[in-house]
Amino acid sequence: MQRLTNRQILLGITGGIAAYKSAELTRLLKGAGADVQIVMTPAATEFITPLTMQALSGNPVHLHLLDPEAEAGMGHIELAKWADMVLIAPASADFMARMDSGQGNDLLTTLCLATEAPIVLAPAMNQAMWRDQQTQKNAASLQAKGVRLLGPGVGEQACGDTGPGRMLEPLDIAEQTAALFDRGLLSGKQVFITAGPTREALDPVRYISNHSSGKMGYALAEAAVDAGALVTLISGPVNLPAPTRCKRIMVQSAEDMLEASLQNIDQCDIFIASAAVADYRPVSVAEHKMKKGNEEIMELHLVKNPDIVATVAAQQNKPYTVGFAAETRDVVSYAQGKLERKNLDLIIANDVSRSDIGFNSDDNAVTVVSHQEVKQLPLSSKRQLASKLIEIIAAAEQKGDN
Ligand code: PMT
Repeated sequence: MQRLTNRQILLGITGGIAAYKSAELTRLLKGAGADVQIVMTPAATEFITPLTMQALSGNPVHLHLLDPEAEAGMGHIELAKWADMVLIAPASADFMARMDSGQGNDLLTTLCLATEAPIVLAPAMNQAMWRDQQTQKNAASLQAKGVRLLGPGVGEQACGDTGPGRMLEPLDIAEQTAALFDRGLLSGKQVFITAGPTREALDPVRYISNHSSGKMGYALAEAAVDAGALVTLISGPVNLPAPTRCKRIMVQSAEDMLEASLQNIDQCDIFIASAAVADYRPVSVAEHKMKKGNEEIMELHLVKNPDIVATVAAQQNKPYTVGFAAETRDVVSYAQGKLERKNLDLIIANDVSRSDIGFNSDDNAVTVVSHQEVKQLPLSSKRQLASKLIEIIAAAEQKGDN
């Protein structure tokens, strides 16, 4: 499980011999799924080169506050907003003093002033410097402001002294960093979501489809990303931008959607089928545009499409599988029938006879039907509803409910 999937970590490196450990730390954070941007103070570049850090992070290293070229790319305020966490390792005594006094005399201190993300420091310095009264005051003051300190560790130091002040080992810092994010309900889980309509071609210019806008599925994808999941959104044709930090696969027909859904299905922990998939498709697709004839009635021959969610639920190691039910009457009993028939763990039913909810509206009201209970979620925006649904699905998956 990649515990830092979707996380954006700004790693600050200050001047100290422990800066060499930041290379390994970067590798571990990246390996756990994080996107890492590096900011180095001038002193840090004396201990480890920006080139090394660039190669390991896969991103250009940020060095100067007043650099027009850098500001034209990702400026200091953008970086401050980009970060889900600012992790400074090693944090020197000088840096802690400057940060505590609210200075903004280099890129890293300025970022700390500007960011709303949590700030975490891994102090590293000589044991006498750590014990120094002023350093202790600065450390206590930073903690009182909500800055979290990891370490320092105790032991032999590069200068030959023994005592407190060693930077924690990179693995320890990476694990503690991941633990700080672990509140994400779906941390590191792989979630596949189908969304939108399918289009079943009749000829090169015509198709059979429905009114699904994709809003429900896209809101679910965003909520799952916010909960820490690695999301694959398998989307029919819609007019919505791809949610950030999520992999989107665009498809047209039910058969395409099935193929995309089964790709890597063995890695999927939770499958959510919110797409409105056409139940039938034309038996054949005309090669050229069909011409209007003399007949008043035209007959179309349709063949059943594969059932995507039922196929997923029939896999040997099936993911926790959630369906949607679009109903116009007897909503709960029809949903219960689909729950059983398709071997689902949970089904979310909505009444699509109403124009204010369901297809193509901004709001929805649903009934969550499991094998144990039936729960109504009242009218709210699809966005709010999606967060609530993700909470319910995450809790049920964790409990192993079906
Ligand atoms: O996209 P929006 O405009 O935001 O609208 C949201 C929605 C109304 C489309 C959504 O909330 C919803 O109800 N989606 C399911 C629509 C549907 O096709 O329901 P169904 O009762 O026909 O299908 C039951 C389940 O089987 C669904 O999870 C569906 O994705 C799945 N299915 C159906 C047929 C098929 N061939 N393969 C499937 O996987």
